[in-house]
Amino acid sequence: MSTPFWIAGSPVKSGDTAVVRHPYDGGEAGGHYVPTARDIEQAVAAAHDARAETAAAPAHVRADALDHVARAITERAEEFASLITSESGKPLKWARAEVGRAASTFRWSAEETRRFAGELQRLDTDAGSRGRLALVRRVPRGPVLGITPFNFPLNLVAHKVAPAIAVGAPIVLKPAPATPLTALLLGEVLAETQLPEGSWSVLPVGNEHAAALAADPRLPVVSFTGSVPVGWGIRDAVPRKHVTLELGGNASVVVCPDWTDLDMAADRIATFAMYQAGQSCVSVQRVYAHSHVYEELTEKVLAKVAALGTGDPRSPHTDVGPLINTAAAERVESWVADAVSEGASLRLGGERDGATVRPTVLTHAPEHVSVMADEVFGPVVSVNPVDSVEDAFSLVNASRFGLQAGVFTRDLPTAFAASATLEVGGVVVGDVPSYRADQMPYGGVKDSGVGREGPAAAMADLTEERVTVLTGLPL
Ligand code: SIN
Repeated sequence: MSTPFWIAGSPVKSGDTAVVRHPYDGGEAGGHYVPTARDIEQAVAAAHDARAETAAAPAHVRADALDHVARAITERAEEFASLITSESGKPLKWARAEVGRAASTFRWSAEETRRFAGELQRLDTDAGSRGRLALVRRVPRGPVLGITPFNFPLNLVAHKVAPAIAVGAPIVLKPAPATPLTALLLGEVLAETQLPEGSWSVLPVGNEHAAALAADPRLPVVSFTGSVPVGWGIRDAVPRKHVTLELGGNASVVVCPDWTDLDMAADRIATFAMYQAGQSCVSVQRVYAHSHVYEELTEKVLAKVAALGTGDPRSPHTDVGPLINTAAAERVESWVADAVSEGASLRLGGERDGATVRPTVLTHAPEHVSVMADEVFGPVVSVNPVDSVEDAFSLVNASRFGLQAGVFTRDLPTAFAASATLEVGGVVVGDVPSYRADQMPYGGVKDSGVGREGPAAAMADLTEERVTVLTGLPL
């Protein structure tokens, strides 16, 4: 059975169909109808036509819709989780966590909708502006094109859709071709709301349509999460548009000499280097451990990684499943081999079976090899010794990426030094960089992107200030 796609809030069953395959065993995860060029045009035109009505929708309509979606996701949590696992290969335990986070993203967006009110500015600070006041409100920049990746088929969709609803901007969503089914299921829930017709569409089209959609003047905002070259390529192609990019990273952990609970640090490093097979922009990739703790930490990381359960992601006991496809796994395998040929020590893993790469730990990997310098997006972590925390911070900053970093310390000046000097969008003190609460501003610097997600931050991004000057007031 093929799932419909969504144009202007209505399900459409027409045209060709496509099959989505389970990354673990190639079995069928489901199918969907594929929008034609005419369907795409209809969705974009509907978003454009609905922009005034969507912007004018009262806050209670938008907040109620967002609350409804949060509740419905929670009620249908197992259905969402099992679909995420089927189409992405994400282990069920991580799919369940993602569903919980998506509900939170919608809930927070409802909260922010209720308090998104603008501010007042006094103008009577000059004699010539007596009795004047500025009302500074934020209005939607216009319909949004949301493009999402395969690694969080629900929550990263939520981070595009929910803030757009919150500010009253129509959205045309293009989910990842590998994982469109979860976004289409979300459409069922969105269709139960009272949002204006035309305010949302979900188009499961191939990546070859992304450039034309991004160039369409009726979609003045592009919010993209995905790969570095594609993201920056979009931004370079449409310099006059408002483009936000959440791109990759090679997230680091620094373990400082004062950190005593090495069991805890090793457990968090092992878990979050390997969760969803490393396919997260903030999975732990580089670990810089002070020489005082390096040997002990490394042994503990090896033991924790070796204890992770691998295999079929549908089993609730599986910690590490397949990558999104065999080609991705082959690339990761070749990067590991290259690191070893350049002098890294392979301490665990390195083997591949189809789309699955065994959790891999390297030590002493040179900085220039791909497993250090590029984004692995696979279950591979490199642990290297450093002589000082300052050296570690320099190595973190030597990267072309800057998304998040984790610093294991309880020393306040070191924590503040990390916050002040690390060139990243977020520093997590006492934990791994993979920590993300969905209400936080989330995004990167340098090649990792521009703009921030998180409902409040994204709402600011999707809107622009409009000043209304009021005169003749008895202030
Ligand atoms: C990402 O991979 O960019 C998202 C990470 C997350 O939301 O935890």
